[in-house]
Amino acid sequence: SEGAYEHLKVTTPRPGVGLITFNRPKALNALFTPLFHELNAALRAFDSSPEIGAMVLTGSERAFAAGADIKEMKDKTFADAYGADFIEMWSDLMHIKKPVISAVNGYALGGGCELAMMADIMYCSVGATFGQPEIKLGVIPGAGGSQRLTRAIGKSKAMEMILTGNNLSGKEAGERGLVAKVFDSAQECVDGALDTAEKIASYSKIAVKAAKEVVNKSQDLGVREGIEFERRVFHGLFGSKDQKIGMTAFAEKKKPQWTHE
Ligand code: HXC
Repeated sequence: SEGAYEHLKVTTPRPGVGLITFNRPKALNALFTPLFHELNAALRAFDSSPEIGAMVLTGSERAFAAGADIKEMKDKTFADAYGADFIEMWSDLMHIKKPVISAVNGYALGGGCELAMMADIMYCSVGATFGQPEIKLGVIPGAGGSQRLTRAIGKSKAMEMILTGNNLSGKEAGERGLVAKVFDSAQECVDGALDTAEKIASYSKIAVKAAKEVVNKSQDLGVREGIEFERRVFHGLFGSKDQKIGMTAFAEKKKPQWTHE
């Protein structure tokens, strides 16, 4: 609920939509353990809430998140990192079943870029800056950046970014397909993400869950297995009430009243 978090603002600004805003302005929303405890709790609360159909994750106009907190991790040893599974709890977002849209304004660097890429849909504004600058710190991306950025924008460009630490502008992120849409301002970006989340939240939660699941399988399976998986899930939806409701409503020229069953 609102007010329960120190490093986040958590609200429900639209019907069915949960909004999580990073709120650590002094450190440009640098990501650290206490923030992840809160983020994971907020994501899980929205994921299990019957009221919520989709979520938006955003930061400030200046920074989505300027990366992992360098001051928190600089003294870690190999045992601290490997032994305690540093970063493991960063990817709880991957286990969220409802769609999550990242609305990126300002800096999305290092772990900030990686976290934005864990979302199901990415939006940004022209003022966004994406980058994996870990090489400048003597390390490499550690929260999926080398894999997700490469799949999103291709090997040559991802390799160039990861080896040089050079950034990608919001405009380029749109041109290269890293993000689904680029907005002129931070406010328009957040509003656009909320519009999309509200639209998703207006559909059958069963169908939305299935749609997210099958699209995500395309990242892990070969095309043939992926299509077979899709077909099984598609067939399975004929066992849902919402399939009957949706198709009957179309045939009767009515608006469907989803039961989410
Ligand atoms: C800790 C950070 C931080 C970070 C910014 N700050 N980024 N603190 N970790 N990642 C703090 C600064 O220390 C400063 O605190 C305050 O935020 C404002 O930042 P400035 O540097 O003064 O702002 P500016 O000059 O506008 O520069 C913005 C910036 C720069 C270009 C984003 O802050 C920057 O380069 N940050 C580091 C970016 C980075 O390397 N990220 C990747 C981290 S590695 P004070 O107290 O001085 O005011 C990573 C690993 C991921 O993410 C792998 C596993 C997940």
